Amino acid sequence: MSTPSLLILPGDGIGPEVMAEVRKIVDWFGAKRDLTFDVSEDLVGGAAYDAHGTPLHDDTMARAQDVDAVLLGAVGGPKYDALDFSLKPERGLLRLRKEMDLFANLRPAQCFDALSHFSSLKQEVVAGLDIMIVRELTSGVYFGEPRGIFEEGNERVGINTQRYTESEIDRVARSAFELAMKRDKKLCSMEKANVMESGILWREVVTRVGQDYPEVELSHMYADAGAMQLTRWPKQFDVIVTDNLFGDLLSDLAAMLTGSLGMLPSASLGAPMSNGRPKALYEPVHGSAPDIAGQGKANPIACILSFAMALRYSFDQGDEAARVEKAVEAVLADGVRTADLLGEDGTVPVSTSEMGDAIVAKLD
Ligand code: NAI
Ligand code: MG
Repeated sequence: MSTPSLLILPGDGIGPEVMAEVRKIVDWFGAKRDLTFDVSEDLVGGAAYDAHGTPLHDDTMARAQDVDAVLLGAVGGPKYDALDFSLKPERGLLRLRKEMDLFANLRPAQCFDALSHFSSLKQEVVAGLDIMIVRELTSGVYFGEPRGIFEEGNERVGINTQRYTESEIDRVARSAFELAMKRDKKLCSMEKANVMESGILWREVVTRVGQDYPEVELSHMYADAGAMQLTRWPKQFDVIVTDNLFGDLLSDLAAMLTGSLGMLPSASLGAPMSNGRPKALYEPVHGSAPDIAGQGKANPIACILSFAMALRYSFDQGDEAARVEKAVEAVLADGVRTADLLGEDGTVPVSTSEMGDAIVAKLD
């Protein structure tokens, strides 16, 4: 097998700071586990605008299409707020997502014991939680036509259209089943087939795709009932697949069952490439945090866990991904905290770089 390739795009604000800690982990794998990546680094967002006058250079776009996985820090910042819409840092990220056709957005909700008091739910409800929401990202009500605000009689009407083709449902369902195969082989599909035709079709297609994955236990739930079940007893789920709109809500809900912004990784996956791996972009959920940028305060864990997702879902290194997650767990159990994970209890926070070093030390 050829050396797996990874394109790192640190971006803006705290992006480069948290990515520097990921580089330590990547280097550790090369030195200690004989797991070497062909790593290249490039610019995105404001950093790319400063260098090239565009938030994503065509060469960078081409490289992103070519590698096994892209890992992105964050883009944006007040310096770029006045730019024309087409030049804004966010456009760089949107272009990546669109041209790589990343239709499956993965948002895990994972509870680290040492942080279970952060949850608004009872500790027993969230302790040990490890679930994954797969949200369809490129279609549905955010894109369907007709849309707009129209005159109708003597008033206006606002219209959006929930629209899904069979192939759009099929491909995101396949991504979810593939994930379930790498996890606990349990998939719950959520829609509103009781009141929406797109939901009826969704359920039908997911069921059909399920015939190709007989080992995965498939269930269906109405999305409103799903929201209730997610807050009542989230550990009943492993992988959840749902559409763009419901996924937007349910993934935010699930993320906050467990954590703080500095802890949340994500992945966006597209179609399988010629080597069988999906096109993939991994990134923390948080932004560039201009309020703390350049101060060594950023929590690198969200970005480090995004790399762990890349290990599991792009590089077939599930055991090594678990090793990274266990190192994070162990460091948190030791009471090591960046400022965002601290209350007013007087504990002295560690810096971004100290957190990275502590995690690397646990890997050993
Ligand atoms: P943000 O996620 O950057 O920050 C929200 C709050 O959380 C801030 O107080 C920040 O200090 C804190 N925070 C975020 N990540 C943290 C970390 N790793 N460690 C410790 N604290 C952390 O969201 P905000 O402030 O709304 O946006 C700031 C900029 O980032 C804007 O330009 C926005 O457009 C951009 N943005 C970029 C995203 C991306 O690249 N995917 C996503 C969200 C926002
Ligand atoms: Mg949202």
